[in-house]
Amino acid sequence: MVDKIKVENLSCCYNKKCVLDSLNINVIQNEILSIIGPANSGKTTFLRTLNRMNDLDVTYLRKGEVYLDNDNIFNMNMENLRKRVGMLFAMPIPLPMSIYENIIYAPKRLGLILKKSEQDAIVEQALRDASLWNEVKDRLDSSAMKMSGGQQQRLCIARILAINPEVILFDEPCSGLDPISTAKVEESMIELKQKYTIVLVTNNVKQASRVGDRTAFFLMGNLIEIDKTDKLFISPKERQTEDYITGRFG
Ligand SMILES: Nc1ncnc2c1ncn2[C@@H]1O[C@H](COP(=O)(O)OP(=O)(O)OP(=O)(O)O)[C@@H](O)[C@H]1O
Ligand SMILES: [Mg+2]
Repeated sequence: MVDKIKVENLSCCYNKKCVLDSLNINVIQNEILSIIGPANSGKTTFLRTLNRMNDLDVTYLRKGEVYLDNDNIFNMNMENLRKRVGMLFAMPIPLPMSIYENIIYAPKRLGLILKKSEQDAIVEQALRDASLWNEVKDRLDSSAMKMSGGQQQRLCIARILAINPEVILFDEPCSGLDPISTAKVEESMIELKQKYTIVLVTNNVKQASRVGDRTAFFLMGNLIEIDKTDKLFISPKERQTEDYITGRFG
């Protein structure tokens, strides 16, 4: 098993209030690592650090290092990092344009595509990998805004796939979705791990247990426990983990 991401002694603070404390954690290539924990435990801050989304926040201070393969992400060109590490948010936010244009927007902007036939191939592959192709293949020119919430979320996944990243970060991707749409997004995540490495932050403990190969439990900026998902849910080592997964707090 190869580490795709290695996080060493990562501490993050906003305005001197520290919200992650000397975190050491790895993400294995082609796994889904689920991260669970109550509100304010630092889950989103952790994800945002992995693709340097907080760099422009002047109140944010970081110590420690993050390696993608063996490259220190803080020494990397930002555009290159964002191509390698894509992020999906809780609310799907398609661009107000067609399904086709949504997907091709970023590759075009990055200058990755020239010919129409190449564009068509990228759109089809991204939609297939996001488990959306069969639902939309006959209406690629219609507005993305007319899709259901669950379809919009899978479209946002397809938009990330179109730039061919190595890692995808999901921050509560199903929090606004009904159970059927949630199941579809979960299915596509499980498909995606064949090609990509996935970090999934979720408030839904059951979701973590359904899709995570390993699960990490964060509490107040600390990594309390990380283990194979079955093990963590069946026999957690720490009392705090047990309390959280059995719904005693959080
Ligand atoms: N941009 C910011 N500026 C100042 N404080 C912030 C900022 N972002 C997060 N925080 C603070 O950092 C702490 C951790 O927040 P974070 O969003 O990482 O937690 P979380 O585990 O994702 O929570 P939730 O489950 O509610 O999404 C919180 O106390 C939050 O108020
Ligand atoms: Mg969050």
